[in-house]
Amino acid sequence: MKFIFYSFSFLIFISCQTSQQKQQMRYTSANLTFAYRQTQHMLDSLTHLQKDRLPKSVDEQGNMTQSDIYDWTSGFFPGTLWYIYEFSEDTAMKNQAIHWTRLLEPVKDFYGHHDVGFMINCSYGNAYRITQDTVYKQVMVKAARSLTKRYDEKVGAILSWNVDDGSWQSERGWKYPVIIDNMMNLELLFNAFNFTGDSTFYKIAVAHADKTLANHFRSDYSSYHVVDYDPETGVVSHQHTAQGFAHESAWSRGQAWGLYGFAFCYRETGFDRYLEQAEHIADYILNHPRLPEDKIPYWDFDAPDIPSTYRDASAAAIIASGLLDLAEVMDGEKAQHYRIVAREIIHNLSAPPYRAALGTNQGYILKHSVGSIPHGNEIDVPLIYADYYYVESLMKLRRLQ
Ligand code: GLY
Repeated sequence: MKFIFYSFSFLIFISCQTSQQKQQMRYTSANLTFAYRQTQHMLDSLTHLQKDRLPKSVDEQGNMTQSDIYDWTSGFFPGTLWYIYEFSEDTAMKNQAIHWTRLLEPVKDFYGHHDVGFMINCSYGNAYRITQDTVYKQVMVKAARSLTKRYDEKVGAILSWNVDDGSWQSERGWKYPVIIDNMMNLELLFNAFNFTGDSTFYKIAVAHADKTLANHFRSDYSSYHVVDYDPETGVVSHQHTAQGFAHESAWSRGQAWGLYGFAFCYRETGFDRYLEQAEHIADYILNHPRLPEDKIPYWDFDAPDIPSTYRDASAAAIIASGLLDLAEVMDGEKAQHYRIVAREIIHNLSAPPYRAALGTNQGYILKHSVGSIPHGNEIDVPLIYADYYYVESLMKLRRLQ
């Protein structure tokens, strides 16, 4: 009797799980189908625009803005096309992904700033992951070598921004600025290590992550945006912001980059200190009293005009993707909690006011992101990287199912 009871309960459990999974599958399929159709609109409109420049955002009149291949955002459009191809298996989408990825090939020799990792890992990284074509791998390794030229042994970190090129960064008096965003570039180095076995890539990535762990975080696990080092001694000179509200504030996208970065650092190294840091950052974000109920953060957790200020959908999408990675390397209730919150974020981004109507928004999927408020740049607009991490999260949810 007992046996029959347990068998029956088990069957009900399995069938509930299956129906929940089917429901989730339908949900991600519907949203990815929307992303596919919206991207087709973008591809159509790009035929009338500059052919060698990539979608980035929109201007104040709502017109498309495009970047050249050396902009930090250049890899996100090809990367989005790869995810959408992976979902749709549409050959036309694959051809577009190939075309826009190949445009970035010269970036393999570029080391004018630290974002080579973002640019090449999102474009060529996805191209290689999906096709296993070694040509993509070769470009990734070359780009990773270029990135290592920005590493300085004395400091123990990769230089984020140049300080002598007349840019706005060089006017701030910094000598060796390293920004929290730079954690994201380490994924390319880990990939290059995995491809080649050359431990230089691994050692630089670990040194940089450790230096960031030591100097970018406050005791509550929020992070500074910019840490400036003395290039002779590697000692911290300043803990500043560039895109946040204030030096001592928590710029939302910066918190998201830290979470995502330390989650993959743990996956690649197995070092507990990275897992603990990623968990601390996740908990800082998710328990923050000024995280809105829909879990789409304001642009800075310490913006003085909350709740009458801008949300940042890009930060939300990066947080969702980072939480899914973190849950992947953990067990138990906490992993489950991170997955539930990631789903909730994606669910909220998949509806108004965040998701655009089909055929609008210049073909971008999401609205309401923020580039940089202190620079008066890209405020409350679509951003290509918001779309990238949103689509990436949907693909990660799909893999779970
Ligand atoms: N990595 C630049 C930004 O997040 O705005």
